[in-house]
Amino acid sequence: MKLWAGRFEKDTDTLVNDFNSSIGFDARMYREDIAGSMAHAAMLGRQGIIDPGEAEAIVAGLQAILADVEAGTVAFSADNEDIHMNIETLLTQRIGDTGKRLHTARSRNDQVALDIRLYLKKEIAVIRGQLLELMQVLVRKAEVNRESYMPGYTHLQRAQPTTFAHYMMAYANMFRRDVTRLDDCLARMDEMPLGSGALAGTTYPIDRQSVADQLGFARITQNSLDGVSDRDFAIEFLSACSILMMHLSRFSEEIILWCSWEFRFVELDDAYSTGSSIMPQKKNPDVAELVRGKTGRVYGSLITLLTVMKSLPLAYNKDMQEDKEPLFDTIDTVEQCLPVFAAMLDTLTVRPQQMAQAASAGFINATDCADYLVRKGMPFRDAYMVVGRLVHQCIQAGQTLDTLELAQFQAASSLFDADVYDALALRSCVEGRKVPGGPSHEAVSSQIAYIQSFIDGCSPSGQ
Ligand code: ARG
Repeated sequence: MKLWAGRFEKDTDTLVNDFNSSIGFDARMYREDIAGSMAHAAMLGRQGIIDPGEAEAIVAGLQAILADVEAGTVAFSADNEDIHMNIETLLTQRIGDTGKRLHTARSRNDQVALDIRLYLKKEIAVIRGQLLELMQVLVRKAEVNRESYMPGYTHLQRAQPTTFAHYMMAYANMFRRDVTRLDDCLARMDEMPLGSGALAGTTYPIDRQSVADQLGFARITQNSLDGVSDRDFAIEFLSACSILMMHLSRFSEEIILWCSWEFRFVELDDAYSTGSSIMPQKKNPDVAELVRGKTGRVYGSLITLLTVMKSLPLAYNKDMQEDKEPLFDTIDTVEQCLPVFAAMLDTLTVRPQQMAQAASAGFINATDCADYLVRKGMPFRDAYMVVGRLVHQCIQAGQTLDTLELAQFQAASSLFDADVYDALALRSCVEGRKVPGGPSHEAVSSQIAYIQSFIDGCSPSGQ
């Protein structure tokens, strides 16, 4: 019999029963649901709303259910609709009528709002830890590649020289922002909604703050209507994950390009690539491609929840049950992508020679050539024009700036001298960029130190 059967004359149609039920996916919040119920029952006892002895019996009963669920000996049922009613039903089956007192001063609406928050808080800590590990891999890769010169691109055209370490630090900063975005999101969701009841709070003298304290929340929610209607925190979490995946997808794309034979800047470890069933020569970057692809489903989840919540009147609407699958799918996806991506990166071989060759072949030092003239006194716009003409000349003659004769330089501007060759060397072009944030050995070392101290300063718990 349904917990809410009293008002009904007929049983629920089987189709509706299955359609309505969320136990197939919300069962994974059993720990949070039980923790919430234990805190609620203990508070009811303390406040004298139920008998303290009965509160103890409820807590003990819930504890035993938790142990049995963990041991895999409990079967949930779609007839009990969701995790909340499944646990409550189990409790009453086990401890008898006392179990029926648990739902005093509570609704599934505030219960589910609590469970999702608790669940997300826990998973944010996991994702955060994985991000920090990825950042540690980036630090390691950067440390040994401070002089691995490579082309930097704009429009995917060789633009200016940089280093592999500089590149790694670019991504490290994106992931640093992802960590802080998750922290921001966590700080805002750290509010305890129990006590909101169905929507209008309760007449019982409950103590919301003590429940918040027991469950480790920073504060209680401020308005009961909002407390049960709000899913902003879930949308924010999905946004933070979408941005994180966007970063991973960009990185994946670069790795896919870099390990192509057109680039050959890196080589993936055999354990992190796959072969083709027909082409014997193939070594494919499947991991990076899958991460890139899975970004799509995370964006999809964000759009799903935004769309589910759009125009919903206050307070709870059953539509909101649709929040869980996109959330859980995102958690599973991100938690699967981060470690495999980090391991792939950690085991990848960098090919500095190949990269340096690509950085030397074209006109990657053209800006440096103009800067050389500026140092000799020419205004930048004029220098830009002189070098532009030289580049044009080189392209027509099949040359590069480094291979021009000094006389050819001097024909373009009398400011050119023999030291121009030094100024155009790849090493000088990179090492001259000492500006904070730049690619020189020195500048990148500060960036590495900054990221390392960020990692060290982050407590593993995410709090
Ligand atoms: N399974 C429901 C959900 O996930 C729990 C809340 C149900 N509340 C209700 N009034 N039907 O949203």
